[in-house]
Amino acid sequence: MLSGRGSNFAAIHEAISKGELDAVIVAVISNRGDAGGVARAQEWGLPAHVIDNRNYPNRAAHEAEVLRVLEDARPDYVVLAGYMRLLSPSFIARYSGRILNIHPSLLPAFPGVDAQAQALAHGVKITGCTVHFVDEGLDSGPILLQRAVAVQDDDTEETLSARILEHEHVAYVEALSKLAAR
Ligand code: GRF
Repeated sequence: MLSGRGSNFAAIHEAISKGELDAVIVAVISNRGDAGGVARAQEWGLPAHVIDNRNYPNRAAHEAEVLRVLEDARPDYVVLAGYMRLLSPSFIARYSGRILNIHPSLLPAFPGVDAQAQALAHGVKITGCTVHFVDEGLDSGPILLQRAVAVQDDDTEETLSARILEHEHVAYVEALSKLAAR
């Protein structure tokens, strides 16, 4: 599930295509029709579903449609890759222990938005990315895997984000490989 450019989704798809990850993407769900990830999914012939939250009266109605698509697709795991909507407790309960997210910091440091800017503002020398299971809190579920990234003196939010993103792509594939091997 994604909302934007979909580079993590692309990394996962690439790993599957190369035979490095034993998985199948059964559905790509976006809450935005103009997300780059949707265009990529269509280009690669993957089942892409745009479920725009703005077309639904409330969160429950939007999630009901997302759940309907998921029930059809029957995924083992729901992989959030830049999905910018909070999931309700009932949604999380339905896929309990099977929803993953990636976050651009070493959680529990810097949850929420602008994690890379928060890291710079605090002056940390090491940050990174975290793949974790999703629970009802904000970026708070059990951690599956982390990769550390050194902060350089001349880093800006852009340069640091770009460097962390490269590690995110490796981390997500590694985390999913672990789950696939279970
Ligand atoms: C990543 O930085 C991820 O950690 C965060 O949202 C961003 C998504 O990037 N949750 P992309 O759409 O996968 O390129």
